[in-house]
Amino acid sequence: MRRKLIAGNWKMNGSLAANAALLNGIKAELAGQSVACGVAVCAPAPYLAQCQSELSGTTVNWGAQDLSVHESGAYTGEVSGAMLRDFGCVYVIVGHSERRTYHAESEQLVAQKTVRALQCGLTPIVCVGESLSEREAGQTDVVIGRQIGAVLAAIESADLAKIVIAYEPVWAIGTGKTATPEMAQQVHQALRVRLREKNSQAAALVQILYGGSMKPDNAKDLLAMPDIDGGLIGGASLKAEDFLAIVRAA
Ligand code: PGA
Repeated sequence: MRRKLIAGNWKMNGSLAANAALLNGIKAELAGQSVACGVAVCAPAPYLAQCQSELSGTTVNWGAQDLSVHESGAYTGEVSGAMLRDFGCVYVIVGHSERRTYHAESEQLVAQKTVRALQCGLTPIVCVGESLSEREAGQTDVVIGRQIGAVLAAIESADLAKIVIAYEPVWAIGTGKTATPEMAQQVHQALRVRLREKNSQAAALVQILYGGSMKPDNAKDLLAMPDIDGGLIGGASLKAEDFLAIVRAA
């Protein structure tokens, strides 16, 4: 059985004070409880030290939202995987649609970042997803196949079990529109079929998260689908109460 994972993606939100309140709310609720699913928050880089000091010794992991494809050196503004490890990161989001769109990250770059994350001992949460026009043109399978194909071609088959995938339909991100559980399951299942071609044993172990307006009121139905192994939560991860309600649903 795959353990579910609920990961918050704070995006470019937060402040020392707001994060302290959020993290304390999460910690207070989860302290001393045996939580059935994995729980993580992916914070902006400047707040990773705060996550480390607030979350060390708890059941909540933390991670970053991007990493440099380079190891180190003259890359002004970039943050390396080794630096993320220094601050205790377990996860790093790779290829979020906002980075593909606003920072022109190509499928090749996303694949290379996935490899770099693995080399640094981080678990990449690799995001894939189609836009509304692609879905309407019946291109969902083709787009997702291409995005995941680039990543699978770049990694060793022995590393497949070390990645997490997030299916995030672009039209559902931050819009309040969610894929129905059936729509999401169909894509998750197709993704798993692709993973099997790379490594059939590992494919059964890979957590495939759903992301895109997952909220307390729709989480349970989405998480009940056989190939939906958790959520990558944007907006609803910024309020302890909402995030915890999704954790409880998992
Ligand atoms: P959302 O964002 O939950 O606010 O739709 C999800 C994401 O972009 O990871």
